[in-house]
Amino acid sequence: MLGIDYTCCSKDRIGELGIEPQSALLPREGMRNPVSFLSENPHGWPLGWMRWPVERPDLDRIKDYAAEINIKADALLLLGIGGSALGNAALRSSLNPPRANEIAGNLKLHILDNVDPHATKAIFDRINPARTYVNVISKSGGTLETMAAFFVALERFSEKLFPEEVARRIICTTDPEKSLLRDIARAGGYRTLCVPKDIGGRFSVLSAVGLLSAAATGIDVDALLDGAAAMLDACKSEDSEENPALKLAETLYHFGAVRNLPIAVMMPYADGLYLWADWWRQLWAESLGKRLSMTGEPLEKPAGTTPVKALGSTDQHSQVQLYQEGAADKVFIFLRVENWDASPGIIKTPPLAKEQFGYLDGRPFEAVIDAESRATVAALADAGRPCIEIVFPRVDAHAVGEFIMLWQLAVSYAGILWNVNPFDQPGVEAGKIAAKRILMEG
Ligand code: PA5
Repeated sequence: MLGIDYTCCSKDRIGELGIEPQSALLPREGMRNPVSFLSENPHGWPLGWMRWPVERPDLDRIKDYAAEINIKADALLLLGIGGSALGNAALRSSLNPPRANEIAGNLKLHILDNVDPHATKAIFDRINPARTYVNVISKSGGTLETMAAFFVALERFSEKLFPEEVARRIICTTDPEKSLLRDIARAGGYRTLCVPKDIGGRFSVLSAVGLLSAAATGIDVDALLDGAAAMLDACKSEDSEENPALKLAETLYHFGAVRNLPIAVMMPYADGLYLWADWWRQLWAESLGKRLSMTGEPLEKPAGTTPVKALGSTDQHSQVQLYQEGAADKVFIFLRVENWDASPGIIKTPPLAKEQFGYLDGRPFEAVIDAESRATVAALADAGRPCIEIVFPRVDAHAVGEFIMLWQLAVSYAGILWNVNPFDQPGVEAGKIAAKRILMEG
């Protein structure tokens, strides 16, 4: 199981900003308990993401499609954005080997989420439609960026292949009943997978949205779902000492809303985990950044805190000066890996470097990043900055599944503490409408 260490959040360790022992985090009078609130679900929020890892309704079909892609294609082109792409990219980077697209014989996964013309052209110029499958993912089935890229794909594929060959290579992942993408799929004879009605975009990585590309690239999706189910099971209690997601939510709510620290920084010390900070940023920002309460009244103060990502140890040489000595307006979430499954080996210090780097001689390479991570936490704590450490025993599919469910629950609980609906995104919708208007004006 993932470990979560709160030592550097306590008053004893960091002083003034720290949490008093015990009681400071307990729900205040009149505040709902997030666990019972979520299980009663009085507002009918979309909570299918809590059932999917246990019931796994579409998994066999997802695995069949993935196996077919693996046999018949060299590349999978994934078109989607936000919750329809970020989790896929993070699964790829954490659970496939680094730079997996460069390994000969591997299925290449190209994720086109941005509508950057250079990047989009480069991918379309490089792929061979005859050896490529396309997975278009859009829950609404009408997202501008995704549909624009899909229309380009249809055009490019149709230039090279017969219509039935195009149809065989396209899998649309969308709403089970009604969406433009589903209509296009029906008309073109493309296969489809469902984003269940009760799973929102940013909570959908453990459904068909994330699992097709994961299974196609060889990720153990059963272990991933087992990990998520195990975390769900560990988060049943209404007592935060026995519910890791609740403790995480309460701690971050405490620093954000009670102590008024406006920024939360996630800093993985592992390249493979960096894109999980990206995924988390969306989950945290879109779920909590709200001006209305869950019943629609304006809040006294907008909810949420600003999520920031950083990479250790790289950003020690870029951001940590500010984290250490700049405004004390941040809570830090560090991700540390305990056991690395790959290493370049033991360091041998050359004679000329013995005096300066003798302490490295004979140490495994991974000892460096481990020391850097622990040292940064200690230094920030010494400077009075609150730090939470999430420890991966190792980065495998089970642990990643745990991590996903941990945050999906924690963000939902945090939304309840902030008194907002963590499952809508009215601000994003406003931007979508404005972009459409500009394009319509010519
Ligand atoms: O979390 C969300 O709902 C959003 O970020 C969506 O995932 C994103 O806007 C893409 O939407 P769709 O899947 O409908 O294309």
